[in-house]
Amino acid sequence: MIKVDVEGAKKFIENKSFEKGLEDASEAFQKVKDGYGPGNEWLGWRRILENPNDAELDRIDQHAQSIREDADIFIVCGIGGSFQGAMAIVEALQKPFISGRPEIIFAGHQMSGRYLDSLVHYLNTPKEDGTRKSVYLNVISKSGTTLETAIAFRVIRKWIHENYEDAKDRIIATTGPEGGVLNKIIEEFGYSKYVIPDDVGGRFSVLTPVGLLPVAVAGIDIQTLFYGAVGEFQRREKHPGDLLDYAAARFELHEKGFALDVIGSFEPELNGFCGWTQQLLGESEGKEGKGLFPAIASYSTDLHSIGQMVQQGRRNMMETLLTVKKPFSKLALPETADDTDQLQYLEGKLFHDINQSALKGTVSAHHSGGVPVVQIEMENLNEQQLGELIYFFELFTAVYVYMLEVNPFDQPGVENYKKAMYQLLGKK
Ligand code: PA5
Repeated sequence: MIKVDVEGAKKFIENKSFEKGLEDASEAFQKVKDGYGPGNEWLGWRRILENPNDAELDRIDQHAQSIREDADIFIVCGIGGSFQGAMAIVEALQKPFISGRPEIIFAGHQMSGRYLDSLVHYLNTPKEDGTRKSVYLNVISKSGTTLETAIAFRVIRKWIHENYEDAKDRIIATTGPEGGVLNKIIEEFGYSKYVIPDDVGGRFSVLTPVGLLPVAVAGIDIQTLFYGAVGEFQRREKHPGDLLDYAAARFELHEKGFALDVIGSFEPELNGFCGWTQQLLGESEGKEGKGLFPAIASYSTDLHSIGQMVQQGRRNMMETLLTVKKPFSKLALPETADDTDQLQYLEGKLFHDINQSALKGTVSAHHSGGVPVVQIEMENLNEQQLGELIYFFELFTAVYVYMLEVNPFDQPGVENYKKAMYQLLGKK
C-alpha cells in the first residue's frame, strides 16, 4: 500500500491554508471522478482499470512469451509517454548487471544519428556463436507522426526488412485506433497492431499496450502490475485520503511561490520512475504560467552534486521522495580482521539500513534548510506496488492540476518547437 507523509511539508504551510487546500483537493478529486473537468474526454486511464480487459492482457502475455522465446533484442521505438513508462518499469524491476534476454533497447526518443548508427552496428554484430541476432521492433506512437520516432522507425524497419524474410512478424506497431501515417504503414505491410484507446493520452498510457507489451517482453508479470493499479484505483475511489494531503500541500506551496519540486529517491532502481513522474507532471501542469518545475534527483549520488543546491540554494523548492520500506537485498557490511578503514561501527549492518539512515538524515537536513519534504512510501519494490504507485501518480496529477485550474491532459506548448523545426526542415 502506498503511504504519503506530508508532515515535513505542512510545517511550511499555515494550518488554515492547508485545510483550505484539502477542501479544494476534494473538489478536484470529485471533478476527476464525475468527469466534469476540462479534458474529460481523456479519462480513459481510469476506465481501463474500472473495466479491465483481460482478453487484451492475455493477448499481450502470449505474444510477449512467443517473442521472448525467439528474440535476442527487442527495440522499443517511441518518445514521451510512448516510452518513458516502459523504461521506468523495466529499470525498477530488472536487476542491474543481470542482462536479461531479450535485451530491451530504447530508440526513437531523440534524434541522435550517432546513437542510431551505433545501434545498427550493434545489430549487425553477430552473436558469440557467429549467428545473427534475432531482433524485434515495437514502434509506439499514438499520433503516428512524431518525428523522433518516425525517423528512427524508418532506419530500424529498413534494417529488419533487409535482414529477415519474416520481417513482417518482427515488427509490432502500437498506435491510435485509426488515421495517421503509422496506420497506413501497418495496413500496407501487415504488421501486428495494438491500439492506444482514443481516450487515453500519451503520458497516461503506461497501463495500455504502450507500456505493457515491452514490459511483458522483459519478463515482468504484467497481470500483477496491472491488477496492483486496479487495487489502488478501487481503494482511492473510496478513500483518496493521503493523496489529497499531498495535493493540498503541493498546491499551497505552489501558491506561496515555490517554483520547483525535486522528485527523488534513494533507490537507484526508481530513477526511471522519477523520470516518468517528471514527464507526467511537467507536461500536465506546466501551462498558463503555472506549475512547479519537476526536477529529478538520484540520491545519495546527487547529494554530492545538486544536494548542495537543495540544502542552501535559492529557497523556492520542495522535495518529493519516493521510498521503499523493506529491504530487497540482504547485503550487509562484511567483517574484517582489522579496522583500517574505520568502518567497524557499521559491520553487520544491512546496506538498506545504512541507506535508510542517509534518507532520514537528508530529510532532517533539507527540512531544517527550508525545504518542505513529502515522502511517498512503498512497502516493497515489486510488480503489485509499482502498479499501485503508477495509478497513485496518475490520479494525483489529475487532481493537483485541476486545482491549478489547468487542463491536465493536453500539451499545446509542445507544438511550438515542432512548428519552428518543421519550417526549418522545409516540411510542406
Ligand atoms: O503525453 C503525451 O501525449 C506526449 O508525451 C506523447 O506521448 C509524445 O509526444 C509522443 O507522442 P506520440 O505517441 O503521438 O508519438
